[in-house]
Amino acid sequence: MNLRGKNVVITGAAKRIGREIALTLAQRGANILVHHRSSAREAAGLCRQIRTLGVTAETVACDFGRSAGLAAAVQKFWRKAEKAIGSVDVLVNNASLYYSTAFGKVTEKAWDELLAVNLKAPFFLAQAAGRSMLKRKRGKIISLADWALARPRRGFLPYTASKAGLVSMTLSLAVDLAPHVQVNAVAPGPILPAAGAKASENAKVVQQTLLKKFGTPRDIARAVLFLIESDYVTGAVIPVDGGSSIA
Ligand SMILES: NC(=O)c1ccc[n+]([C@@H]2O[C@H](COP(=O)([O-])OP(=O)(O)OC[C@H]3O[C@@H](n4cnc5c(N)ncnc54)[C@H](OP(=O)(O)O)[C@@H]3O)[C@@H](O)[C@H]2O)c1
Repeated sequence: MNLRGKNVVITGAAKRIGREIALTLAQRGANILVHHRSSAREAAGLCRQIRTLGVTAETVACDFGRSAGLAAAVQKFWRKAEKAIGSVDVLVNNASLYYSTAFGKVTEKAWDELLAVNLKAPFFLAQAAGRSMLKRKRGKIISLADWALARPRRGFLPYTASKAGLVSMTLSLAVDLAPHVQVNAVAPGPILPAAGAKASENAKVVQQTLLKKFGTPRDIARAVLFLIESDYVTGAVIPVDGGSSIA
């Protein structure tokens, strides 16, 4: 797919990796819908920057963190998104919630919230996107997974399960939406440390990579771009992890 003039929705795009994906796709001529939850100021600033590239950029907010009524909230978000930028050609499920939950202390609230943001919302977004992509016989859906599924971190069970579900969802969607819509995932390794991560933890993470360094948001944005521009890849999960998964 050539991105020029295409409409892209990126969730959680105001900062960090989502922001870099938005800028990278806008540089290829795509119009961008910057979804955000709390980062309204950063989202507005990003839109101003994107518009200087000569493409459209709009923001729509939505909190995906509640399980009850989430499908309806996502559908409302989707209607606003289409009103803002038009029919959507590409959906990037980037928004994510990440926190540790010691095994014995996992609450129903934490389980529901992590699964809602990381799996349930991406599915209902993909359902909304997929319906219209099927009618128009073209589209791309890309989700941001995590390299760590094969080697789960202690104390991150609900997060890891949510990302495993996201990978499974990607494969199922690739089957359900074939042949006109391609559905893939990128599985980042260590790219940007979580807020509050200690320097010693970050050093340990680097040691667990083969390449002995953090990746960059640009590395992830390039993989997303590849998946959009190539039309013969579907049901793939591309690790961009510095070799972490085989280290
Ligand atoms: N960073 C890494 O090294 C790394 C490693 C492995 C996988 N990944 C994956 O790559 C993607 C991007 O990573 P990142 O570190 O840039 O992500 P992030 O900063 O942890 O989260 C991205 C955005 O998700 C949004 N979000 C959080 N809770 C939400 C909710 N309840 N409703 C709606 N949006 C919500 C936030 O938007 P607001 O700021 O607007 O609230 C946040 O800015 C994620 O899917 C992540 O799991 C990243």
